Amino acid sequence: MRVAAVVLKSLRERIRDALRDASGGDLFFNEPMKRHTTLRIGGPADIYVAPKDPGALANILASLESEDPAFMPLGGGSNLLVSDEGMEGIILSTAFLNAIEMVDEGDTWVRLFTGAGTPLQKLVTFARDKGYSGLEGLAGIPGLLGGAVKGNAGSFGNEIGDVIESLRCADAGGKTFTLGRERLSFCYRSSNLPERTVIIGAVMKLAKGDSDQVADKMKACIEIKRETQPISAWSAGCVFKNPEGTPAGRLIDGSGCKGMRRGDIEVSSLHANFFINKGNGTAADFLALMEDVRERVMKSFDIALETEIEVVGKHGKSDR
Ligand code: EPU
Repeated sequence: MRVAAVVLKSLRERIRDALRDASGGDLFFNEPMKRHTTLRIGGPADIYVAPKDPGALANILASLESEDPAFMPLGGGSNLLVSDEGMEGIILSTAFLNAIEMVDEGDTWVRLFTGAGTPLQKLVTFARDKGYSGLEGLAGIPGLLGGAVKGNAGSFGNEIGDVIESLRCADAGGKTFTLGRERLSFCYRSSNLPERTVIIGAVMKLAKGDSDQVADKMKACIEIKRETQPISAWSAGCVFKNPEGTPAGRLIDGSGCKGMRRGDIEVSSLHANFFINKGNGTAADFLALMEDVRERVMKSFDIALETEIEVVGKHGKSDR
């Protein structure tokens, strides 16, 4: 059941007021989520709000009441499959929280505060230009810092969790707090970030390195990605987690799924763990293709693939 119109009306007004009382931001109603996902898939969100700064973000959260529908923080939408029916409640984008600031430094290290809305590649490029080391393997990964931290994004053995010292967060009531390293744990594609927590930014410690070496490593990572992954196609990156032992891509490829298709969604012929939206793909087709692939891999290898992307929508997280 959709959120009652009267609840939505009151919520829209309160959020509008909360933004007006702070530094403002973007506020859209019935916003197509396909505009905010790298897959270019997703129906309308009841409310999409992108506050200009952490004060406005806190104001919005403080304006929420217990009977309001849930909110979902949104980063770059690069690991997200949103249902065709869209999302109930509030999509809270951190895209404007995108500053990179020096906190302090020593002879061999530097500590940076990076806003959750900073594109990961803006941070990677910043580190490259300054010769800061620690993020080289993340070169070429799409999305914003907040989402990368929550899902512990990584590649080539380098994960964002490796360099995080603390997180600045807001809880569901708008209260801000810091989570120190001792309270954080990062595993393969996941972190222990509490539910209903919005990341405002992260403090990370990087080593002062040699600019040329840092740049060379990043260039090599991007070249490998370009050769092995369909980086310019509409996708959400790897669809399934790598099971222990054998990479999902090899299993999917080995069970003959490359090129398999449902509507406009296709298993990439370059990397089988990427599903591509060829133009007018839908979430329904994407989910159906996931099931086709799961079945084939189960039949061929007796291995159950686990979903890596975040699947949200009408009956997903936004309803909880
Ligand atoms: N392979 C195939 N066929 C394919 C794809 C891969 O046989 O279609 C084989 C490769 O030849 C290789 C092995 O599978 O022997 C592993 O492939 P690859 O090196 O491409 O790495 P991956 O395990 O598939 C992981 C991450 C990527 C990350 C790369 C590079 C997961 C699920 N994927 O891919 O992350 O970019 O390593 O470090 O952990 C993502 O998280 O969205 C993502 C793309």
